[in-house]
Amino acid sequence: MKDVLVAMRRHLHAHPELSMAEFATAAYVREQLEALPVETIRIGVGQTGVIATLNGGRPGPVTLLRADMDALPIDEISDVPYRSQNAGVMHACGHDGHVSILLGAAQTLCRRRAEVAGTIVFCFQPGEEGSAGNRLMIEDGALEDPHVDRVFALHLYSGLECGKIGIRNGPFLPSSDRFTIEILGTGGHGAMPQSARDPIVAAGHVITMLQTIVSREAAPKDPVVVSIGAVHGGTTFNVIPDTVLLRGTVRCFDIDLRRTLPERIERIVDGICEALRVEHRFTYQYNYPMLVNDPAMADVMRAAGAAATGAANVVEHDVIMMAEDMSFMHEQRPGAYALVGTRGGPATAFPNHNARFDIDEDALLVGHDLFVALALQPA
Ligand code: NI
Repeated sequence: MKDVLVAMRRHLHAHPELSMAEFATAAYVREQLEALPVETIRIGVGQTGVIATLNGGRPGPVTLLRADMDALPIDEISDVPYRSQNAGVMHACGHDGHVSILLGAAQTLCRRRAEVAGTIVFCFQPGEEGSAGNRLMIEDGALEDPHVDRVFALHLYSGLECGKIGIRNGPFLPSSDRFTIEILGTGGHGAMPQSARDPIVAAGHVITMLQTIVSREAAPKDPVVVSIGAVHGGTTFNVIPDTVLLRGTVRCFDIDLRRTLPERIERIVDGICEALRVEHRFTYQYNYPMLVNDPAMADVMRAAGAAATGAANVVEHDVIMMAEDMSFMHEQRPGAYALVGTRGGPATAFPNHNARFDIDEDALLVGHDLFVALALQPA
């Protein structure tokens, strides 16, 4: 099985596609599924998503297994033969591995259909990286016909050693929201700032002051992240520009705190802009909810993990601040989400989303065995 998984993963790795543009990937998934004796294949679910169902030979629940398909706008830095052939696009988050794992599990479960408990829904999702493809699939009926009872997903993760599976009960991944702040000043000569209203200086204050939300407004026991990820303004040494654009992300684990954050951010922006005689435009978008593992489903996942990689390798994991739109399905159905370790040495130690990210491919077999064990378990 490992060779099959590696071949599929390397093909996908070489042909990455951005969120909601997973056309060749979806076609590849469909082609692979059409070679299998699955009951149904639905395409175009949530635009580019693909869903197949398999009825097992034993009674049991309807279990959805999810793999996300999209890649990131990153230029891969790598010499490996399977490096990205699409300039500026890279599978830097392991979603190539997720697709390979779920396709491999579908193959294995078709072979072992008599042992499969209930119905398995193989869910290949578009647009995880910010486009809420998971929600699009739900809106397109992914959790009905058949009515899904429980949902599972995994994520390849270089923060964990290859061979290990990380899981926890309750909140696991934070909510993830995004905002933009446009600071509107009046440009001028860099040597005559008194004639301008400088949006660069205002942006500098905004960037540092926003950190007081974490340090002075949220309780120290409540993890929150406010990060500015983009700063755009100006063109040269000696010109004060008219505008500066900031983009940022907000993560937290508390629903009530989450609701207060847009006001807190805008109040700080507003105060600074007023003090420094510039205007602003502010937009805030609630993006992904917090991902919460159902304790009973997490136990099902732990048991499957033990079957896949040994109980000693199934570890209780701390929360991590990466977000995931699988949380939309977790809001609808009991579910569990696990991290599958991919770090096997220096070449596979780069963090997810790094331009040098790569995985120890032994992890593919761990993920495959985890999904297979979930499908073979009795209800
Ligand atoms: Ni990811």
